[in-house]
Amino acid sequence: MKKIYLIGFMGSGKSAIGRRLSFLLKIPYYDMDQEIVKKMGMSIPRIFEKYGEAFFRQQEHEYLKTFRDEWCIISTGGGVAVNPSNSKLMRQTGLVLFLDATFVDIWKRISRDVNRPIVQSSSREELETLFTKRRRFYKSAAHILIRTEGRSLRQITEYAAFQVNRLKSNDMN
Ligand code: S3P
Repeated sequence: MKKIYLIGFMGSGKSAIGRRLSFLLKIPYYDMDQEIVKKMGMSIPRIFEKYGEAFFRQQEHEYLKTFRDEWCIISTGGGVAVNPSNSKLMRQTGLVLFLDATFVDIWKRISRDVNRPIVQSSSREELETLFTKRRRFYKSAAHILIRTEGRSLRQITEYAAFQVNRLKSNDMN
């Protein structure tokens, strides 16, 4: 096991948990969206506007395929695990943790966000439908499902770290 991937819907806490987990486990952290933003030199809404969603999805796939082989934590964008070839790649190269948040919690976090083009172009109902549809993909891509409802960031991080350490020691035996 090399990489730890955090997957889940927008607003499920992937970046917040990724940063904390990196601190706790003392291994580097990468935010896939931020890496794509850096590479392209423009924001995610701008990438969607200028090149379209399909191009952005291609960038996500390229990132997964070409990212260096190191022991690290990667928080993925909410659409990444929906593509079966991405999920396959993640499962082959690391441990996949699904942050399973409720739609009610997610909506509270993302409803006013202007940096997520999919939120900007969808109604609450459409997002909830997308959430339900994607949840099945997250579940089948994940090695571990972590329910986040009613848990603090600290509790979620500690639980994730426990799971990583458990699997790491299994790996070595
Ligand atoms: C997306 C989620 C975003 C970002 C882009 C598309 C999606 O990442 O990759 O706006 O399709 O769910 P977060 O899940 O980090 O918000």
